[in-house]
Amino acid sequence: MPSARQRTYQTGVSYVRPRAADVRRALSFFSRRSEVQRAREERRELRDAATAYAFAERHVPGGCHQLPAEIVPFLERVRGLHPHRICEIGCANGATTLALSHSAPTVELVIGIDLFVKNRAILRALGRPQQRMAFVDGPSLSPQALTRVRQNLGGAKFDVLLIDGDHSFDGALGDFLAYRDMVRDGGLIAFHDIVPDAYPQEGGAADAPRLTMPPCPGVPWAGDVPRVWDTLSPFFEHETYIADRGQQGFGIGVLEYRRDRVDHVLRDALAVARP
Ligand SMILES: C[S@@+](CC[C@H](N)C(=O)[O-])C[C@H]1O[C@@H](n2cnc3c(N)ncnc32)[C@H](O)[C@@H]1O
Repeated sequence: MPSARQRTYQTGVSYVRPRAADVRRALSFFSRRSEVQRAREERRELRDAATAYAFAERHVPGGCHQLPAEIVPFLERVRGLHPHRICEIGCANGATTLALSHSAPTVELVIGIDLFVKNRAILRALGRPQQRMAFVDGPSLSPQALTRVRQNLGGAKFDVLLIDGDHSFDGALGDFLAYRDMVRDGGLIAFHDIVPDAYPQEGGAADAPRLTMPPCPGVPWAGDVPRVWDTLSPFFEHETYIADRGQQGFGIGVLEYRRDRVDHVLRDALAVARP
């Protein structure tokens, strides 16, 4: 296992400060013993998407970066698939990761990827018993992250992949292209933030790339994910979960993944769509 310092050199991301904050959050969580006990009891009662979401929102510090009117029906869709293996790219606080872990009784493996996956001790304590959770720190497109995800999958495929990490065009599309062969045919590849945000485009030009970092924390920011969604969705059976057509940011788009659609048709579309 490389040290935090070695991994900083490999990926360009420092883990020292986030790890210290994470230890503090875990100590605070586990010191409230009766609450932990109550959460573990509650966990046995999780029967559907709405209770799985509410459970995760209540117990994971910081909660989900999701609208309930979108994530709950998405979790229902996931549940209907009877999934065994799920991956989330961009876990933030890990609350959606936990909700996904409880989305169906069939889930055996959940892999969460982020520059630094927060709250992992809490997620492991509250995940479904007998389920494996693996967390991968680092940019999702780094060779190290891809290798670790493949190792954890052990040759199996994901039933569900949620892409919610790097919101640049190349980042979100890159996640799709790099991870799609780890998703089974007929599995789901979902994107969060398919609804455009209200930020101006870089330089103001209509075809300029969207801002790649959220300039105002707390204000919805979709980056270039809507353009990635518009590029990919015509080639697949798909559905969207959007709370309000007038909203800015958020929105979940779900593709039913078919390998044969990508190879011959998408290559040309991507060549046109790239800025
Ligand atoms: C909008 S948040 C994700 C919210 C989360 N999915 C949820 O539902 O609560 C985006 C996350 O992506 C992570 N991220 C950004 N670039 C990334 C990359 N290249 N690889 C992995 N994660 C990345 C950020 O650290 C951040 O935690």
